[in-house]
Amino acid sequence: MIKLSNIGQLVTYNSITGSMECKENVEIIIDDNKIYKVGIELQDIEHNIDCNSMLVTPGFVDSHTHPVFYDERIDDFSMRVNGKTYGEIVKMGGGISSSVIALRQASIDELIDKVEERMDRFLKLGTTTIECKSGYGLNTESELKSLQVIHEVNLKHEISMVPTFMGAHAFPSEYSDNHDGYVDLICKEMIPLVSYQGLAVFNDVFCENGYFDFNQTRKILNVGRSYGLRPRLHADEFEDSNGALCAGEVKCISADHLMKVSEKGIESLYKNNVIATLLPGTTFFLGLNSYAPYEKLNNVGIDVALASDYNPGSCTIQSMSFIISLACINMGMNVLDAIKAATFNGARSLMLENSIGSIEEGKNADIIVWNIKRYEQIAQIISNHPLQFIFKNGKKIFTA
Ligand code: NIG
Ligand code: FE
Repeated sequence: MIKLSNIGQLVTYNSITGSMECKENVEIIIDDNKIYKVGIELQDIEHNIDCNSMLVTPGFVDSHTHPVFYDERIDDFSMRVNGKTYGEIVKMGGGISSSVIALRQASIDELIDKVEERMDRFLKLGTTTIECKSGYGLNTESELKSLQVIHEVNLKHEISMVPTFMGAHAFPSEYSDNHDGYVDLICKEMIPLVSYQGLAVFNDVFCENGYFDFNQTRKILNVGRSYGLRPRLHADEFEDSNGALCAGEVKCISADHLMKVSEKGIESLYKNNVIATLLPGTTFFLGLNSYAPYEKLNNVGIDVALASDYNPGSCTIQSMSFIISLACINMGMNVLDAIKAATFNGARSLMLENSIGSIEEGKNADIIVWNIKRYEQIAQIISNHPLQFIFKNGKKIFTA
């Protein structure tokens, strides 16, 4: 057993009160991989860690990433900082399709090495659970290869990876004149194989004008569900594309991006209890001003999660602390709500809120001990990451 004593602020969601709390003078006892006790003046334990009056929070849950790719798209970035938009870059041969060429050529071992390194960095930044999508293969062999990479890395890495199948990320060039043919390939071949091989928990689609339309999205998500894959959705990222409406109709667990969500879309999310996962890192990285309408979503009563959207083209940010900074500075979130969105609500969107996302007795011991005293500093400090150490499943991991 390990005791964390002399904690300054303990900031966590509390399932009994149903709200975030900031407590002082609390101690935590970890037994093996679980949180055994949280309370005041707990029993003495031989292995005591003095937290020096510093802040303690749950580990971050990053519920939306695309980490299985070969290289970051430096040419896309350079074109963008020279004035081109994401859409224009796609037309010039950049975008998702350019990552597909490299991923198809890469061996499984090369990809495992790359993804492992990325996971090292995520964990050092305090992310203890991460959703990971396929979606740069776009044929059966390479989508399965991508999910296999996630599976292999998850077996040996301390971070917990939750796999999502995203064969519907874009139309591959060989189907550029036959979009419905690709939808059929996803529904009749990819989804059954992914399901039989047990390689994914979720199924995601890029529902956006120019990508998968409402009907194609609904079909892919419903077929996925019939094979046991839970639906989540990229919705209304660049334009209102009826994505949120579709997420509501299909009853996705989460609709993500929502930079351009319509009023009707918001209503549909609310009515169908869909979590809104906001990705302000993407808005920032693409140099846009169209942050998702957090205040509207929140006022209606929709639960909001925050995630990084880490990917090679539209967001290379891995740090959830920085995502929290962006959410507070650019979307008007208060810091406690942003921490909840990056921990408990992320866990809810992965359907893991019973085991992770908060510091409560019986949950996995996924904990960050910070080198700061007040939780507001998570958002305030931008360019360095004041983490002292991280506990993942009760095991202490030092950070830089
Ligand atoms: O979430 N929207 C679709 N997928 C990614 C972009 C992926 C890429 O550009 O490689 C996103 O922004
Ligand atoms: Fe994404």
